[in-house]
Amino acid sequence: MSSFSYAANPARVLFGRGTVDAVGDEVRALGLSRVLLLGTRTRPVAAALGPLVAAEFREAAMHTPAEVTERALKLVAEHDIDGIVAVGGGSATGLAKALALRTDLPQLIVPTTYAGSEMTPVLGETADGRKTTQRSPKVLPEVVVYDVDLTLDLPVALSAASGLNALAHAVEARYAPDANPVIDQFAQEAVRLLTKALPRIANDPSDVDARADALRGAWFAGMCLGAVGMGLHHKLCHVLGGSFGLPHAETHAVLLPYVMAYNGVPEAHEVFELAASLPVPHSLAELGFDEADIARAAELATSAPYPNPREFTAQDVAEVLEQAWSGQRPDAPDLIGDLTKQVVDSFATAPARVRELLTDLVKTLHGYVVRNDVSQAEWEYAIDFLTRTGQISDDKRQEFILLSDTLGVSSVVDVLTNSRTPDTTPSAVLGPFYVDGPPETSQGADLAAGLPGTPLWTDVRVTDTHDVPVAEAIVDVWQSNEDGFYDVQLPDLDGPVLRARFRTDDEGRLRFWTIVPSAYPIPADGPVGQLLDAVGRHPFRAPHVHFMIAKPGYRTLITQLFVRGGEYLDSDTVFGVKDGLIVDFAEQTGTPPDGRALDHWRRLDFTFRISGSPA
Ligand code: BEZ
Ligand code: FE
Repeated sequence: MSSFSYAANPARVLFGRGTVDAVGDEVRALGLSRVLLLGTRTRPVAAALGPLVAAEFREAAMHTPAEVTERALKLVAEHDIDGIVAVGGGSATGLAKALALRTDLPQLIVPTTYAGSEMTPVLGETADGRKTTQRSPKVLPEVVVYDVDLTLDLPVALSAASGLNALAHAVEARYAPDANPVIDQFAQEAVRLLTKALPRIANDPSDVDARADALRGAWFAGMCLGAVGMGLHHKLCHVLGGSFGLPHAETHAVLLPYVMAYNGVPEAHEVFELAASLPVPHSLAELGFDEADIARAAELATSAPYPNPREFTAQDVAEVLEQAWSGQRPDAPDLIGDLTKQVVDSFATAPARVRELLTDLVKTLHGYVVRNDVSQAEWEYAIDFLTRTGQISDDKRQEFILLSDTLGVSSVVDVLTNSRTPDTTPSAVLGPFYVDGPPETSQGADLAAGLPGTPLWTDVRVTDTHDVPVAEAIVDVWQSNEDGFYDVQLPDLDGPVLRARFRTDDEGRLRFWTIVPSAYPIPADGPVGQLLDAVGRHPFRAPHVHFMIAKPGYRTLITQLFVRGGEYLDSDTVFGVKDGLIVDFAEQTGTPPDGRALDHWRRLDFTFRISGSPA
């Protein structure tokens, strides 16, 4: 048998539906006749109070700023206030408590979130940017009225975050050094009620029974918070909120399973799964916390001793924060042990670059699997997807490139490549329709070979980065037809068409006829098309002509010119459009430069700059 002490916090509690109707009687029973009403959504309470309301104040704010309290105090004096009624969450309750501390006025609180502050003798206030917390029986409300109906329109995301905040009070109460069997009963019941209610609320916010369970759970959790000391979890939430500006309830929601796991609480994984199923942020990264601040936060959290069932150093706290930052399963490190390291070590004797690339690949892949808790079925799906991607590929169709393109990987590689030669024409992805060794064609030829479309006179120049013309450069050109197909996609076509190899003349110039390219869908009948479909993306590329320019001694330029004003420039499905590559395909009338008999055509003028110098 163990001895213990238990301090009941005296308060009269009304719980139910429509209980706000009794607020007038409760206020009169306290002997009050001129109350100050705090909160923003006070209508039902104001209606129940009628003439008992002497003044209203709507400016309660998070962390109870002292200047707001001062303004409310003025109203108390001006209106001869004899009691306080607060409706809302932690901000309204905090202000009521701050006023009670200074005036000893009785308070009646109507909570509309699961914050639980109405059950505690604790008051946190901010002044001059600093938050201080104190305990005083003076701030305990006289009456708390829980009305389930007032919580029905609490948004789901807020309900979930606030509910996990309440759960944290109950969880930490169970291992508090001053825990006692009375509070333990309330803590257990709070955990039971909240874990049962939150998924039901997420599913149907108007589920009255679930709302009632959550509110009762929050009440009991608030009693825990008021009665016993909190541990590492609350300390960390205060540090992250106070010194890094993270939002209160959401920070609780993210951190709780990680601190539970650190403290060896067996239900840590269940709480992780619960939070994962709710519409709350799931990592500190999502809350905007900078990974670089982890060490400083860990130092702050360990700067003074703090009760916690398991001792901790700054390094321990940093590891907990690291896991919470990434959002990975809290028990992952125990489960996978040094498996990642074993694989990485197996590359020890590989050539340097191979080792570097494989090491990061394995770390990234393991991290991905762990962070997302990838299931066997999901892994099998991914393997099947890649298998199908390979099976549909052949020498005419390259589904892997298409996958890389649609995931933006090709463009990332391209942007990095391009950044090494900033003075040249921007490059753009090669795409799957390039065929090596297109037919050599003489200048002035027509690539369209009679295909329908708007004739396009192309007059381009190739220079180096000092504007010196590059003669004898090999220029491969390829594009889609008017219907958006490349010749390799049309087995019946007697190609090659709309593709050719040219050579620049002594002035670095190249002139030829083709047609204006049109927007086209990338091949969408394979796994990549299914992927686009599954995420609701269209498969179209903005209209463009491809160029590949090569000459010994120069860096080969692979790029595309896009039609200004063309479709999909803002949503190209392979993320390939660059501003510097959008050019005029200008409308023309009159006779073309080579005297061809046309009165409606367009022209494309452009200078490509490539890097390198004559051999
Ligand atoms: C292309 O422009 O030919 C292309 C590029 C990436 C994916 C599909 C097509
Ligand atoms: Fe293309």
